[in-house]
Amino acid sequence: MAPVTRRQFLKTAMLVSASGVWAKHFATASTLSWHERRDLFPEGVASGDPNSNSVLLWTRRAPEGPPQPSHLMLEVAEDQDFHRVVATQSVPISAEADWTCRVLVGGLKPARVYWYRFTDSDGNGSRIGRTRTAPDDHDPRPVRFAFVSCQNANVGAQNAYRRMIYEDDRAPEAEKLGFVLHLGDFIYELVWYPEDRKTYYARQVRDIVRYPNGEKIQDFHIPTTVDDYRAIYKAYLHDPELQDARAHFPFVPMWDNHEYSWLGWQGFQNFGGKNIPAQTRKVAANQAFFEYQPARLIKPSGPSLATFGAPKVVDAPITKFDEHGLGQEPNNLAAIGSLRGHRSLRWGKHLDLIITDERSYRSEDPFARHEADGLDDKDFQLFTAQEVIEILDGGRDFNNGKPPQTIRVGEKEIPNFRKDEPPQSYLGAEQKAWFLEQLRNSKATWKIWGSTTGTLEERVDPQNLPDGLAAKKWPGEGYGIIPIADVSNAFLEKGEIYDFVREHGITGFATVAGDLHSFWAGFSAKSLPPKKFEPVGLAFVTGSISAPGQTPTSWLIVPLGTLHIHSFITHMGVRIPRPLELGASPVYRPLAVE
Ligand SMILES: [Fe+2]
Repeated sequence: MAPVTRRQFLKTAMLVSASGVWAKHFATASTLSWHERRDLFPEGVASGDPNSNSVLLWTRRAPEGPPQPSHLMLEVAEDQDFHRVVATQSVPISAEADWTCRVLVGGLKPARVYWYRFTDSDGNGSRIGRTRTAPDDHDPRPVRFAFVSCQNANVGAQNAYRRMIYEDDRAPEAEKLGFVLHLGDFIYELVWYPEDRKTYYARQVRDIVRYPNGEKIQDFHIPTTVDDYRAIYKAYLHDPELQDARAHFPFVPMWDNHEYSWLGWQGFQNFGGKNIPAQTRKVAANQAFFEYQPARLIKPSGPSLATFGAPKVVDAPITKFDEHGLGQEPNNLAAIGSLRGHRSLRWGKHLDLIITDERSYRSEDPFARHEADGLDDKDFQLFTAQEVIEILDGGRDFNNGKPPQTIRVGEKEIPNFRKDEPPQSYLGAEQKAWFLEQLRNSKATWKIWGSTTGTLEERVDPQNLPDGLAAKKWPGEGYGIIPIADVSNAFLEKGEIYDFVREHGITGFATVAGDLHSFWAGFSAKSLPPKKFEPVGLAFVTGSISAPGQTPTSWLIVPLGTLHIHSFITHMGVRIPRPLELGASPVYRPLAVE
């Protein structure tokens, strides 16, 4: 990449709505009288989305007494003692952004560790954060990063991060992590209060937050306003391990479902089996993400650098959908368009990380629809026949545009309620076009798809069970699949992406994903044997940081005698020792266990 000029840099800072600071050529010692007061910066510090010359820095200075608009001094140094400060800048904080600030620091050197801190006008200082810039685009050094997802402070401890920091501190310089990719469920918006529920599976419910507004559904509470979403981010950042991790590593965060709503899609929430328009909550969720996650996010709301500028929306019914299943109701479009999270990040010669948003543009989950209830089978509760999944996924495009009129499994038959509807899409048309372009144009050795949901289907073979092991014979034609709402079961869209990779001769394609609370590795393939098996890349899924894992969960919820799977590959944190070794001998190491 050609050197970035100060002018280009300031444009970028505008684009990602951060204050811009340009580093000096010569480092000088700090002249500020900083004294650490972590109590005044209770959410700590963070850095995010580094590239080879810039990185976003973040803190929150809690107000004392009557809140007044104010400023903090940011210092960025080449050393932990701030003898070699390369950037000093006054940055605004205000109630409008919940006293958070996001600053893009540019003019930095590639592949360097930097230290940063914030100080208020009385010399009260944040803790010191450490960050790292990416190597430049031609730098051939190996890439090392961790990918994580699903931390639930309501029912677990985030000690996986402690281990990650411990190992990183002791690793030789060349083996330290460049960044932590967070693939979502950074927060769980759905919270239990201990008075309503004491335990969750085998976990103790922890008292972490009380929503100032909120709504109680059954025995849990969900956020309803931006103050509620802010409250849950603050609660999570008070976790010492998560806060330490954000101060130690640059993060590259992307939201999954729980940053907005458990079964949410586009501007809908879904509770009690009903889609509920919740555009106001989607905007509130986006605003809190913007305020609490330093990342190169783009908001269309105007030129303000420090504040989100939430669009005014109402929770109006969403009834008209386009040919990709995108709700055309104006408040829906405004809400999901209020923050763009999909983006790509370059790390040296070898990595283009392409991160997608799989919740804001996705079509409705057809597997959860009540019209399919007629196929439910009490003897095989977890699985659906693969042929059913494929019909429901493909909609009117199934079987090259010739979907069946009915869907039949064994004795059961229902009308094909999907026959006139568009196929499932997780990316939506616009994002998908962007994604494919990113893949096609990438010059990096590895094109790694940061997918918030899993891309490997959870397939089982009950058709091969010995007689008498299950209550009756499997009624499907072949394999069964767990109908998880994720990219793995979007057969047509997944196939379109993989066909594109193959047709364009794209090499070094790999996927890293979260969401499944279990560890997986496999090949990216449109179909599995005995169908045509033509892998185009590698796919990995990481376990959860602390949300209950799939295996213990299924032990606890699945009735005895029902089939379940409990042999997932157990590892976390892909390391890429040398790019060419990824396919031949990948190295995995557990960083966390429950
Ligand atoms: Fe999760």
